[in-house]
Amino acid sequence: MSERVRAKITALGTYVPPRVLNNHDFEKMVETSDEWILTRTGIRERHVVDKGVATSDMATEAAKCALARRGMTPKDLDALVVATVTPDMFFPSTACLVQHKLGAQGLWGFDLSAACSAFVYALQTGAQFVMSGTHKKVMVIGSDAMSSILDYTDRATCILFGDGAGAVILEAAEDGVGLIDFEHEIDGAGGCSLYMPGGGSLNPSTHETVDKKMHFVHQDGQAVFKYAVRKMGDVCEKLLSRNGVTAADIDCFIPHQANQRIIKATADRVGLAPEKVIINIDRYGNTTAATIPLAMQTAMDEGRLKKGDLVLLASVGAGFTVGATLLRWTL
Ligand SMILES: CC(C)(COP(=O)(O)OP(=O)(O)OC[C@H]1O[C@@H](n2cnc3c(N)ncnc32)[C@H](O)[C@@H]1OP(=O)(O)O)[C@@H](O)C(=O)NCCC(=O)NCCS
Repeated sequence: MSERVRAKITALGTYVPPRVLNNHDFEKMVETSDEWILTRTGIRERHVVDKGVATSDMATEAAKCALARRGMTPKDLDALVVATVTPDMFFPSTACLVQHKLGAQGLWGFDLSAACSAFVYALQTGAQFVMSGTHKKVMVIGSDAMSSILDYTDRATCILFGDGAGAVILEAAEDGVGLIDFEHEIDGAGGCSLYMPGGGSLNPSTHETVDKKMHFVHQDGQAVFKYAVRKMGDVCEKLLSRNGVTAADIDCFIPHQANQRIIKATADRVGLAPEKVIINIDRYGNTTAATIPLAMQTAMDEGRLKKGDLVLLASVGAGFTVGATLLRWTL
């Protein structure tokens, strides 16, 4: 039987807004300290958008960056998947807004909601179109303006997140090298541990939902922490074992950046040496759907990710959503 066509990443582009909030800025807003934030999370600073800049704006910048690096125009794209939990608005979709901003006539696309796992879910979704042959050039973007849904008086959540975007282009891998396999799982029993209760069909926006701060991120940090440490390790081990790969075979581990302690605990459990683990949470905080493409860029910039490397991606997010991807790096 002939090998099925694989999808591979042929370009990567990223964007973070220029404005930076460091931990000392938070000391002036809430009862916290640089020392607490750094030791409990690993975060030093994060980028945030200015008023009026939305998720689609960051997504469009990341898309332009990826297109330029690939030497393509927006019209070359066949499909677009935008992973986000902070769409500009309920509808139209952020994908429609990005398509329009890019001027990519004839493009098809949609949004995908899976919180912090949304990039790996969108990556796999985009890959399916390439693998089936229905679409040749698929762009996948992870973009989130988390600052738009944070309560900057709640020290337990506001210090954790930042804004940013990352985009990749997926195309067929004629040489058979690219995305190899994935292991994804959703677990709605954990929905109450991390959510934004207001504004949807259950709790439509009213003065009361605003007064009760229901349009902000609500989180049981410890419950999310424990689940993340357990499940990120579980999906990584399952994926590696199914593919006959050991931790020693992995050249680069690019995890979702929610907390440095979660990343280190997962790497330890899976047996991944520290020098293989990409951490940039210190610079960006948790940018939700953007963490993995931003970390891919960091890994390349630092010379820790090279063409041909075997790469493991992993994430846990609100939902709960869990995901891991095994791929050969092709840039
Ligand atoms: C949020 C998180 C950093 C909190 O760290 P923690 O070690 O679990 O801290 P706890 O929640 O147990 O709180 C410990 C104390 O620190 C306090 N605290 C919380 N945030 C604080 C802050 N920013 N500054 C100072 N103190 C803070 C708490 O109020 C608590 O005080 P108490 O003991 O007097 O009640 C951690 O639980 C976490 O990272 N969870 C996962 C979050 C995540 O990944 N979310 C996104 C999913 S993709």
